[in-house]
Amino acid sequence: MQRTVDYINGKVIMIDQTRIPAELSTIELASYQEVAEAITSMKVRGAPAIGVTGALGIAVAARQSEVDDPQELYAELEHASDVLRATRPTAVNLFWGIDRMMDAAHAALQVGSSVDDIRDALDGLAHVMLEEDEETCQAIGAHGAELIPDGARVLTHCNAGALACVGYGTALGVIRAAVDAGKKVMVYADETRPRLQGMKLTCFELLSDNIPVTVISDNMAGSFMRKGEIDCVVVGADRIAANGDAANKIGTYSVAILAHHHGIPFYVAAPMSTVDFSLSSGDDIPIEERPHEEVTHIDGQRIAPEGVRVVNPSFDVTPAAYITAIITEKGIVYPPYRKNLRA
Ligand code: MRU
Repeated sequence: MQRTVDYINGKVIMIDQTRIPAELSTIELASYQEVAEAITSMKVRGAPAIGVTGALGIAVAARQSEVDDPQELYAELEHASDVLRATRPTAVNLFWGIDRMMDAAHAALQVGSSVDDIRDALDGLAHVMLEEDEETCQAIGAHGAELIPDGARVLTHCNAGALACVGYGTALGVIRAAVDAGKKVMVYADETRPRLQGMKLTCFELLSDNIPVTVISDNMAGSFMRKGEIDCVVVGADRIAANGDAANKIGTYSVAILAHHHGIPFYVAAPMSTVDFSLSSGDDIPIEERPHEEVTHIDGQRIAPEGVRVVNPSFDVTPAAYITAIITEKGIVYPPYRKNLRA
């Protein structure tokens, strides 16, 4: 599969995920404002993907700028970073990616680099981050594959796949690696209301790779667990606090409780850039409230009565106590997470 997001000739090229599964098409963005809009409107989504995209937005902003004074360029980049940071609040990868670029720009400024040198430094780091993301996902997959038994029926929620990263995926990376290792795996994909990333994106990318997948509506998981038809759960994360509490797509918490009740392993697969050591627990993770039309409408069609009160928190927090292990590129981390994530 092509990269979800890429950086070619000073432009961001990305798959427009709002078009999937109807079509697999790409868009080209030549300004940081367009990059910010693409993140807000979820043309690109998924924590690692928006982390890299935010970083690419800074590289684009440097190319866009017409100033020839390094200090002025840096001031423009600071403004672009504010715009990009304001797009989505929950996935810490976004802030990690932008900060990394801003630190590189600042370091170049400190050693007296020219405007062109700063641009080149940012372009170079953009390409490093694209490659690193792919390598990180492969490493998560290699570590996590050993947790997936041959013949496993694996439940996942939302899309933590190639489409949520530059490629390969975190939770779906674990499944891909298990399949590559010769294991038979069957995936149950929660449809994941309100935006249906599970049905639209996870099913699309697994079908493209010929990995068996069955879509279920979100309220079916408990019944399938009770009947003994799910062997483990693997999901991604948008932000993991220092104690291991993990924010992920709304509905993940319910799946974790169900898995715990039925004695089914519940794994979170995520890069270390998703861990926010500055937050002591998941209580401090900011949860994005998304437009209410995502709940009241499906594909532009109103399905709720006019005037009904709506809330739409996009993420929830699963307490560390319900997480069997966190699969990272450094290895598999078991409780106690506060100690072992740092180690
Ligand atoms: O709102 P989204 O689609 O950006 O939410 C995505 C998720 O919740 C993913 O599970 C998470 O970002 C991990 S992606 C590897």
